[in-house]
Amino acid sequence: HHLFSPLPDAEPAARTSRHIKITVVGCGNVGMAIAQTILTQDIADEIALVDAQPNKLRGEMLDLQHAAAFLPRVKIASSTDYEITAGSDLAIITAGARQNPGETRLDLLQRNLAIFKKIVPPLAQYSPDCILLVVSNPVDVLTYITWKLSGFPPNRVIGSGTNLDSSRFRFLLADHLNVNAQDVQAYMVGEHGDSSVALWSSISVGGVPVISSLEKNDINLSVEMLEATRKAVVDSAYEVISLKGYTSWAIGYSVASLAFSLLRHQRRILPVSLLAKGFYGIPEDREVFLSLPAQIGRGGILGVVNIHLTEEEAKRLRRSAETLWECQTQLGI
Ligand code: NAI
Ligand code: 2OP
Repeated sequence: HHLFSPLPDAEPAARTSRHIKITVVGCGNVGMAIAQTILTQDIADEIALVDAQPNKLRGEMLDLQHAAAFLPRVKIASSTDYEITAGSDLAIITAGARQNPGETRLDLLQRNLAIFKKIVPPLAQYSPDCILLVVSNPVDVLTYITWKLSGFPPNRVIGSGTNLDSSRFRFLLADHLNVNAQDVQAYMVGEHGDSSVALWSSISVGGVPVISSLEKNDINLSVEMLEATRKAVVDSAYEVISLKGYTSWAIGYSVASLAFSLLRHQRRILPVSLLAKGFYGIPEDREVFLSLPAQIGRGGILGVVNIHLTEEEAKRLRRSAETLWECQTQLGI
């Protein structure tokens, strides 16, 4: 007895599109916010979850599976064994320690380096053609470490970087100007952290360059307001962590937007952490990952965008690269 009867003389069902599989390693606040946002956006056919804590992992898997009647059809599986990740198109790493109130992202490095040594080799082994997307902090240094541990080409090793900081920046500017954040074009680049750099000179709102608006003495904008906005972006993660203990929703949407652009080959230009040596005056011998606006699609990083930077912006970006470089050299790797 079958639930359905086939039509007489029917052909076997043709596969209309490729099967897309996403792995999420680390099922804490961040991993689950990412998994649930990806589910709502109909990006994946299959999601594999991995965590070191088997009970928490199974609980999170079941809780997501129980939403099946309200979601696009997605197979959700979980295991502490990396075999479950085999054949992924995209593997997102969110495992590891997070900041206690007052700690910086760079303070997490030693703890999360040890964890990444256990995670990256099996991921790379089971999905040798996947794109690796790092979210755990400090994200730029851990993306560099993931590149080294995986042996993947640099276009397939990406950090979520300042895609999140740029959204915070656009939110604050939009709030101040009473416009929609989607109409604010503005990038934060450099380290996802305290040395991030706001690119003032290229901000535009609805196609209007903000700097020329400033020169015409637009009362809504001032240099002080712009600087206060940059500082507010840097402070905002600390504020959320001191209030609720961690950040999750914004990073969930940020990473889901990256997953969508990567796997659906959207060719969107988004600021993500990538191998930055040689770009924007960063010396060739500085093998650092930091965020630059890049076009992203099926192959991962398709290209870095050449935005015009002022001398001051370029100087701050190189300083951010030096901060990350010093951090890496202290690791002895
Ligand atoms: P959490 O503590 O809620 O979750 C971490 C998870 O990692 C836990 O479930 C833990 O069991 C798991 N884990 C630990 N060791 C593991 C291993 N060896 N293998 C597999 N799983 C392991 O932490 P939360 O809040 O989810 O944060 C995760 C990371 O994401 C932190 O490093 C945090 O700083 C970072 N983060 C990065 C953001 C960004 O913009 N790049 C934004 C927000 C957080
Ligand atoms: C964030 O910016 C803490 O990196 C994390 O939300």
